[in-house]
Amino acid sequence: MTQDTDSLVNPDWWRNAVVYQVYPRSFSDLSGDGVGDLAGVIDKLGYLELLGVDAIWLSPIMRSPMADHGYDVSDPRDIDPLFGDLATFDQLIAEAHDRDIRVTMDLVPNHTSNQHAWFAAALAAGPGSPQRDRYIFRPGRGEHGEVPPNNWTSVFGGPAWSRIREADGSLGEWYLHLFAPAQPDLNWENPEVMADLEETMRFWLDRGIDGFRIDVAHGMAKAPGLPDLAAPAVILKHTDDDPRFNNDAVHDIHRRIRAVMDRYPGTANVGEVWVESPDEFAKYVRPDELHLGFNFALATAGFDVAAIRAAIDESLAAAGGVGAVPTWTLSNHDVVREVTRYRPEVTADAPLDEQENALGIGIARARAMALVELALPGTVFIYNGAELGLPNVDLPDEALVDPVWERSGHTERGRDGCRVPLPWEGDEAPYGFSANPHTWLPMPDDWGRFTVERQLEDVFSTLSLYRQAIELRYVRPEFSGPGVDWYQAPDGCLAFRRPGGLICALNTTNSPVPLPHGQILLVSLPLVDGMLAPNSAAWLV
Ligand code: GLC
Repeated sequence: MTQDTDSLVNPDWWRNAVVYQVYPRSFSDLSGDGVGDLAGVIDKLGYLELLGVDAIWLSPIMRSPMADHGYDVSDPRDIDPLFGDLATFDQLIAEAHDRDIRVTMDLVPNHTSNQHAWFAAALAAGPGSPQRDRYIFRPGRGEHGEVPPNNWTSVFGGPAWSRIREADGSLGEWYLHLFAPAQPDLNWENPEVMADLEETMRFWLDRGIDGFRIDVAHGMAKAPGLPDLAAPAVILKHTDDDPRFNNDAVHDIHRRIRAVMDRYPGTANVGEVWVESPDEFAKYVRPDELHLGFNFALATAGFDVAAIRAAIDESLAAAGGVGAVPTWTLSNHDVVREVTRYRPEVTADAPLDEQENALGIGIARARAMALVELALPGTVFIYNGAELGLPNVDLPDEALVDPVWERSGHTERGRDGCRVPLPWEGDEAPYGFSANPHTWLPMPDDWGRFTVERQLEDVFSTLSLYRQAIELRYVRPEFSGPGVDWYQAPDGCLAFRRPGGLICALNTTNSPVPLPHGQILLVSLPLVDGMLAPNSAAWLV
C-alpha cells in the first residue's frame, strides 16, 4: 500500500501524513501491571501497519512521578520504568521503522516535575541562587509574604503559586506552576533551560526519533513583569491575551528548537498550540518555527456545518498565509472523545434504548467527520481509539485520577473519560489490553462490541472505515492539491472539492439528501434510496 514517496526516505513525509497518537498508559500492557507500556506498543505495530498510519506520537514516556501521567518529567533523558527502558525504546524505533512507521514523542519544555534534580537543587540553594533562577521563584506579597506574587490561577484549578519552606524550615518564596504544584514552570529567560532542552532533543534524535510533539508550545515565555490576570481564568481554558501564555518571546524559543531539528533532515515537530485566533496560530508555524501546529479547530467545532466550514476555511487561511501545512484532528487525550461530543444530550438515567440511540448517532457523526478530516489537505492526527469509535467513559468518582479532579475541588471531572484503555479482544474487561483485570482506569462492561478483534472482522465497522479511508487517501491521485473549493449544498450539508478531484459531502441533517455527481469511493453509512444518509459523509471522484 505504501508508495515510494511515503517510505522512510521522504524527508517531507510530515506534510501529508496520518499520525496516530498513542497514549502509552492506555494502548497495550504487556507487563501485566494494568498500565500500558512500550513493549505493548511494539506488540501492536502490526495493527498500526494494518491501519496504515505514517507515524505515531507517543505521549510522554520519560521518567516521571506521574502526577500528571507523564507530563511531569523528572528526567527527560530516560524512559520511565513503568513503560520500559531505553533498550525497549530503541527496539520500538527499529521495529517501527522496519514497518515504515515513524516515531515521534512528547517533549515537555514548559515545566519539569518537582522531583527533577534541578528543582531539588533550587529548593536547597535558597533565594537568589542560580539554581532557583532555572524556575520562577518570587517572594510573596503582604506583610509576611503570605500573599502569592500575583493572581494567576493554575490551568487545573487553584492558585498557580505554591509557597515553599526554606532549608531552615521557615516559610519562604513562592514558585510558579501553571499546571499542578508537582509541575514547576521553568524560567525560559535562563539560557541553561534552552541548552538543556537542546541536549534532550539531541539525545532522542540521535537514537532515531523522527520528531517531537511539543507540549504547551504556546507556553514557556511569560508576560514581562508577570502582570495579574485581568479576569479570573476558567479551568483548562485561556484566551490569547492571557499573560500566562502566547507571549511574543515564545517565538524565539521555537526558532532555537527549529535550528536543532534542521540538523536532522527528515524530522519534524508538531506543537500543541492552544490559541484562539487563527492569526496567532499562524505565527507558530512560520517557516523558521514549528513544522506543524496541532490545530484544535475541528475538535472544538461541534457537528454543525457553519462551524465546520469556518474551522476549515480559517485553518486553511492561517496555514496558507505563512506557507505552512494545515493539520486536523477530532480529539486527543485532553478533550472529550468525538463520539460523545457529537452525541445528542441524554441524561445518565434515560432509558437504555434512548442512550443507545444517542450513542449510535454519536458514532455515525464521528465516522462522517473522520471522512471530512481525512479528505482535507495536510496532516491528520488520530487519537488512539478514535478508529474504534470509542465514546468517553463516565467513570465513577473513586476512579478519577486526573489532577484536575482534585485541583478543582471536585467540580471538574477532568480528562480521564477519554483515557480509558483500548479494548483489543474478547467479551470481558480488560479485553486483551492487559493480563491484569485491574487496569489503571476501569474499562466498561459493554466494550466487547468495540474491540479491534470484532471490528477487524466486520467490513462495516468504524475500524474498517478508517482503514479504507486511510488507504484511499494514499493511493488515489484525487487527494492532491492545496485548499478546497466549496460546492453549493442543501441546508445542513456541505460539500468541497480538492484540486485533484476528490469530492467530500457531509449531511448533518436527519433526512437523506441527494449526492453530488460522481463515482462513489467511500460512504460512512450505507446510502438511503440512493441518497446520502443522515449524519453521514461520502467521498466521490
Ligand atoms: C498539555 C498536555 C496535557 C498536560 C498539560 C501539562 O496540555 O496535553 O495533557 O496536562 O500539557 O503538561
